[in-house]
Amino acid sequence: MDRIRIVGGRKLNGTIPISGAKNAALPLMIAALLTDDTLILDNVPRLADVAQLQRILGNHGVDITAVGKRVGDQKYQGQTLRISAAHIIDTTAPYELVSRMRASFWVIAPLLARMHEARVSLPGGCAIGTRPVDLLIMAMEKLGAEISIDGGYVIAKAPGGLRGGSIAFPKVTVGGTHVSLMAASLARGTTVIENAACEPEVTDVAACLNKMGARIEGAGTSRIVVEGVDKLHGAQHAVLPDRIEAGTYAMAVAMTGGDVQLSGARPELLQSALDVLTAAGAEISVNDDGIRIARNGAGIRPVTVSTAPFPGFPTDLQAQLMALMVHAQGASEITETIFENRFMHVQELARFGARISLDGETARIDGIARLRGAPVMATDLRASVSLVIAGLAAEGETMVNRVYHLDRGFERLEDKLKACGASIERISD
Ligand code: UD1
Repeated sequence: MDRIRIVGGRKLNGTIPISGAKNAALPLMIAALLTDDTLILDNVPRLADVAQLQRILGNHGVDITAVGKRVGDQKYQGQTLRISAAHIIDTTAPYELVSRMRASFWVIAPLLARMHEARVSLPGGCAIGTRPVDLLIMAMEKLGAEISIDGGYVIAKAPGGLRGGSIAFPKVTVGGTHVSLMAASLARGTTVIENAACEPEVTDVAACLNKMGARIEGAGTSRIVVEGVDKLHGAQHAVLPDRIEAGTYAMAVAMTGGDVQLSGARPELLQSALDVLTAAGAEISVNDDGIRIARNGAGIRPVTVSTAPFPGFPTDLQAQLMALMVHAQGASEITETIFENRFMHVQELARFGARISLDGETARIDGIARLRGAPVMATDLRASVSLVIAGLAAEGETMVNRVYHLDRGFERLEDKLKACGASIERISD
């Protein structure tokens, strides 16, 4: 398994191009199941999760062709996928495929809406908490689906097709909102989704569905109304830029010092993170090409932050912020409100010398002036990249093991950092 070796202590200077958002690309690819026409998606990042979803869709009979520069080409970024679900040959998503990526459970919605049946493996446990799918099932039931669970599979049926309904989520769920939008688009009648997720990726998926002929209003607010249509058609859509990737590199620059242009980043997608970074002492400016972040001279100031649904501070940047706070001049507090157990990076950050104590959902971080490089390993995607951030500022060598997690969500991570002066290399065994 690949490892990443970092020799820390170098400032980052230069330009980092921001890729398409993983969390929009995945539901957009799944939305292709809703039509027998071709959906063309531009700016799809080349990630292990995208490749895995290609396999899962392939199992349902979906044809996908990829156009764009290949891995190994100079400066490749993104790809265009032409996805055709003209012939769905199988409505079962098996355990072996779904267990490797939770978002693949979302195929339940388009399969049910278009084929009136789906059999999808429960995703099972996950390193960042139990992450149940009860609210997704509730949403499908509100649209008239009959659901049973047998042998670890969710079996969903809607013999006469789905019908519009009223879905009120007791808590904000991104996945629940995605599946509701997809299912309601092909349901008979009107669906109202209350307490919907307002994440930009939801808005992006709704925009694509509307291009495909859906009638969705209110995406980006907590109340979304969907008028069902009989059929959706093909469309072309470019995936929006990845706000989590942009926020991650912004944290890295705040950590090492330096001056970096995040090319293609959209500030309105990560304002809460930019506000936190400003409070921590980074200089942020917005220009036509994206966001510029610098920290020169000033030290890192401690902050108190709680994660929250959009537009709050994203849980997907919590581990990265914690890495930054390890190096702050004082004590900071980070509270995780979205996922239980999303603190696995704490043990690994301690290997750099970090002083972090946990009290329930709150971590208190006592900043240290010098981090020391160490061999580390992480069990999820965002936690892994927090270790890269710590390694960039640590004295000496850091070896990040299990790079598989990074490849799930960060396109060309080491190339992008190396181009800005980091000493970072991938070691393939
Ligand atoms: C998505 C993102 C993930 C991000 C998360 C929160 C993708 C591919 N993944 O995950 O990166 O961290 O949003 O912004 O887009 N919940 C239930 N029952 C359910 C569904 C969710 O209790 O049926 C709970 C979860 O355990 C969690 C909270 O709701 O505590 C939010 O989860 P949700 O927004 O659904 O996360 P995902 O869509 O899985």
